[in-house]
Amino acid sequence: MSDDAARQAFQVDRAAEMLASGGLVAFPTETVYGLGADASSPAAVARIFAAKGRPIDHPLIVHLADARQLGQWARDVPAVAWRLAQAFWPGPLTLILPRGHEVPAAVTGGLDTVAVRVPDHPLALALLARFGGGIAAPSANRYGRVSATTAEHVREELGEQVDLVLDGGPCDVGIESTIVDASDPRRLVILRPGVIGATELRRVVGTALASGDPGPVRCPGRKASHYAPRARVILVSEGDDAVAGIARWRAEGLRVGWLASQPPPGSPESAIWLPLAGNPSQQARVLYRRLRQADQLDVQVLLVVPPPEEGIGHAIADRLRRAAGMGDDAGFGPLDEPGPGGHR
Ligand code: TXA
Ligand code: MG
Repeated sequence: MSDDAARQAFQVDRAAEMLASGGLVAFPTETVYGLGADASSPAAVARIFAAKGRPIDHPLIVHLADARQLGQWARDVPAVAWRLAQAFWPGPLTLILPRGHEVPAAVTGGLDTVAVRVPDHPLALALLARFGGGIAAPSANRYGRVSATTAEHVREELGEQVDLVLDGGPCDVGIESTIVDASDPRRLVILRPGVIGATELRRVVGTALASGDPGPVRCPGRKASHYAPRARVILVSEGDDAVAGIARWRAEGLRVGWLASQPPPGSPESAIWLPLAGNPSQQARVLYRRLRQADQLDVQVLLVVPPPEEGIGHAIADRLRRAAGMGDDAGFGPLDEPGPGGHR
């Protein structure tokens, strides 16, 4: 075994012991970093909510080493869910299924469904295999804020609140998993778009999936005003006069950022350019890093040109709308979390 492999095995052992004794371990997945705890322990799970400042009725995803563990966490798993698991696990797909009888209510926010997924990251899989049980893990960020895609971002977000951070480098996918509600096999619903898109899902399922929002309690991650940096985020569409827009905010004495594939129009000094370049996968990979950079650069108004709403572009545009406080459920009533600009 090489030194690196030995060091990693040692870290994984420590992390599994930490989980077994009720601790919090942040770990990399292919999507974003997770803040993990023993999913079978209500006390350990309670620590996740405290560390994130997340309301306790917001359900968590249970991460598994293998689809064969599904039976311990879910019941009445429909055939179509097995097909999806077989096609996409390990991978960035979360399935909502009827909750197994042993799953603590703390994990599911009292719902009778449970979210499960097998992540596609060697460190996550090594940890899951070593630990042996399910690991409940939300994204490793403070509630309502941008998900962490590096170990350093996890430490910035959660500091001393987490007992151990496994460092697996930057996440490959960069945005959270696609969530499919498969609890009713007659009506599959995409609750959160991700890099596994409607077309690929349809290919496995055989019919089109609904795209929907069951409401703020069932899937609060779909809430407007999520994934927000401190800057006020404003989406700029094709027809807008961006030069005039930038000038207007500058005239108010504000620091303006420009998140787009191309540099800001007009003078390059008019706004701080945060490039969202490359193909859609590359854009997803850097999206949250760019939102964090906007904060580090003290950007006060971030103008964003979202990518076209196709495939992965749809998932990116979804996160950007939420960062702008414009989710499709914006009318849901009082927001109980810091919104865009809430920290200014
Ligand atoms: O990529 C990911 O999914 C990352 C990595 C760490 O796995 N996790 C993640 O977790 O994004 P979190 O907690 O930030 O988002 C999970 C979403 C939340 O919006 C939650 O409301 C929803 O999943 N969810 C969990 N259980 C649910 C359930 N039973 N019914 C509906 N939605 C559920
Ligand atoms: Mg999250």
